[in-house]
Amino acid sequence: MQPIKITDTVYWVGAVDYDIRDFHGYLTPRGSTYNAYLIVNDKKITLIDTVKHGFEDELLSRVSKIVDPKKIDQVVSNHAEMDHSGGLPEVLRHIGIEKPVYASSMGVKNLGGQLKGSGLNLKPVEAKLDVGEDLIFLETRMIHWPDSMFSFLPGQGVLFSQDGFGMHLACPERFDDQIPEETWGPLALNYFTNILTPYTVQISKILEKVVADGLAAQIKIICPDHGFVWRQNPGRIIEVYSQWVQQKPRHKAVIVFDTMWHSTEFMARVLTDYLASQGIETHYNSLKNKHRSEVATECFEAAAIIIGTPTINNQLFPSVSDFITYIKSLKFKNKIGAAFGSYGWSGEGAKLVQAELKAMGYTVPCDEVRYQWVPQETDLDPIRALGKVLADEIKKL
Ligand code: FEO
Repeated sequence: MQPIKITDTVYWVGAVDYDIRDFHGYLTPRGSTYNAYLIVNDKKITLIDTVKHGFEDELLSRVSKIVDPKKIDQVVSNHAEMDHSGGLPEVLRHIGIEKPVYASSMGVKNLGGQLKGSGLNLKPVEAKLDVGEDLIFLETRMIHWPDSMFSFLPGQGVLFSQDGFGMHLACPERFDDQIPEETWGPLALNYFTNILTPYTVQISKILEKVVADGLAAQIKIICPDHGFVWRQNPGRIIEVYSQWVQQKPRHKAVIVFDTMWHSTEFMARVLTDYLASQGIETHYNSLKNKHRSEVATECFEAAAIIIGTPTINNQLFPSVSDFITYIKSLKFKNKIGAAFGSYGWSGEGAKLVQAELKAMGYTVPCDEVRYQWVPQETDLDPIRALGKVLADEIKKL
């Protein structure tokens, strides 16, 4: 396994996971990478982050093409989540368990808890660390864990941004100039939606601070913990994030549903056709064949999220309940919501969806639409009326 040179003294020494498809409940159809970086000069050798447990040999193999791993002086852990810290104990056993592992004060606490008994020499960072040049730290609490921080080499303009500015993409290319925006754009949005949307307020503040402190102008290269290194145009991903943190909706509706005996599905199709006929970009998503995280990404830029469910034993259909639980955690802003569904006996399903949409703070402009048994071609006015209200609301934006 070969390292990849980024600058004269900075190397990528991470791991590529072509096979991962479920990343804590989020679909990763193109796998991922666990990026780690080595800063090597004649004064110090510093490892920035490690990899998920199971990939330590890949990291050590890449490092050993540059230096003997035992010569690493210190490790910086920018983020305590296990896809980056899980490899710390094994890597430290190879390089020397006594070597200092620097993290934010919260990182020291979290790593101490997660890797209890591993004997790591955890140390909280101060404002900067001597890595043969200055490495300065920027606390990025809740982007996306309480311990998260960025590390920056001002002398070279290299930012190590942990999960920020990343994406889940396993491929042999390591740099932004090797992958077109048509490819990375949807992957970056998928990543942002499912990992970072709950923290847009915090990200917004960090972006403002980075600009206000003049750091943005100094950044020449961004090295995230997933995906590729931004060396050609790091400003592009900062620009994209600056738009996404605003969560501005566009004229787009997402219909998402599941169905028992095709009645709710039929309603979804009628509603899809109606909204499209009103000039609204409309996306039809059946939870039978689409993963919750893919639908969530569809929802990110949508003005309206319209959820359909049958009623089963007085409750939501389980897949719809799962989807609502998932998007509740993403804390979308500026959404219109609506509910629909079919039922046989009692019909609580669509009402429960309606209540969830209101509880999530969505604008819910009309009552849920419910059909008992099977909707007939001659009785579709209620669902079209729902579509009319939604189309009018979307067009007001
Ligand atoms: Fe890539 Fe939050 O770990």
